[in-house]
Amino acid sequence: MSKSEISVGRTVLKNPLIAGSAEHLIEADGVRRALRAGVGAVVVKSTNESERGRDQLQRAEYMLLDEAWREIPWTPDAPATAFMACRSGLTPQSFEAWLEQTAQLDVEAKALDAYAIASLIVADLAQTVAMAKQVEQAGLRILELNIGTPYASQAKGVVSTELDPERVTMIVSAVRQAIGIPLWVKISGQSERVPDLAAAAFRAGGEAVVMAGRSLGFIPDVETMAPFLGTSLGVGGYWNLPLTCHWLAASRQQLGPDKPLIATNGVQNGLDAVRMMLAGASAVEMSSAVMLRGTSVLSSALEGFEAYLQRKGITAAELVGVAADQRKTFADMPLRTDNWKKYVADIEQGSREK
Ligand SMILES: Cc1cc2nc3c(=O)[nH]c(=O)nc-3n(C[C@H](O)[C@H](O)[C@H](O)COP(=O)(O)O)c2cc1C
Repeated sequence: MSKSEISVGRTVLKNPLIAGSAEHLIEADGVRRALRAGVGAVVVKSTNESERGRDQLQRAEYMLLDEAWREIPWTPDAPATAFMACRSGLTPQSFEAWLEQTAQLDVEAKALDAYAIASLIVADLAQTVAMAKQVEQAGLRILELNIGTPYASQAKGVVSTELDPERVTMIVSAVRQAIGIPLWVKISGQSERVPDLAAAAFRAGGEAVVMAGRSLGFIPDVETMAPFLGTSLGVGGYWNLPLTCHWLAASRQQLGPDKPLIATNGVQNGLDAVRMMLAGASAVEMSSAVMLRGTSVLSSALEGFEAYLQRKGITAAELVGVAADQRKTFADMPLRTDNWKKYVADIEQGSREK
């Protein structure tokens, strides 16, 4: 067994790195490139029955911002602090064409000891259930169900942002009852109840929970005084890593160590993947960094991840939750009287030392 191998429910991945769904995984060649980079799995660009979702892709707009909220050029060598704001849509292919392509890619993935994972975004539940059955019948080995997009409030009826655990249970149960293959559920992070949403997904038969989807943001342009790209936007970036890690750790604490969690939102490189695993993830998805900078980001992340395992003499499986399980509560921490004074710029050094 290689040091990188890891189990996610019934699925054994050759390594925990997963190329997460976005525009670079619409075309078969994009998926093939990601598979050839050596990842354990690729989640293809999502689909559903909604024509408006397809139309939305053709109206999609994307921008890159720096740490001062200024637009910067969209180039692969953009600074590490660059992050993406956008309005995205669903794959432009028909469901039938998407299904045929994805099934073929999963056959090719199998030959590389990897997976091409189907991805459905819920709009109408009955249609989702029907599509899930077809995904299984086409021979696909894993389905990721996205119920946590940032956009539902801005694109009603096209995608979902489920924030109520009872609705999560209802949706996941309906899909679970329709298929036997592993079902991974991607949930929203725009909630103070992320662990409850995860619990609801597991209760309903989800085999892994992917946390957590990007957030909805709004960025005024100080020059034009208008919103960037005209609307609220999906936002995420390197700065989201601590939030994802928190939800992983909190979910692990609430659900126990045997409920597989998958990280998404904030991974830029191999050490970020390590961070997510230490926080409790069994596998880690990487999306916008790959869309922006190209597939080489996946191979270098994998290299960085494996070099870390080597350096620490540890296996991927042994990383999962190590930091999360050492997390204390504030009340557990020792008294540090007046420690705060060291951190206030305007308090003079002499008085800090008193
Ligand atoms: C342009 C764009 C398109 C995306 N499309 C999808 C999609 O079709 N299905 C899906 O489940 N997630 C989609 N996502 C979300 C990503 O898979 C991922 O969860 C999110 O970008 C956070 O991870 P990251 O920091 O690695 O980008 C998209 C994200 C972006 C930026």
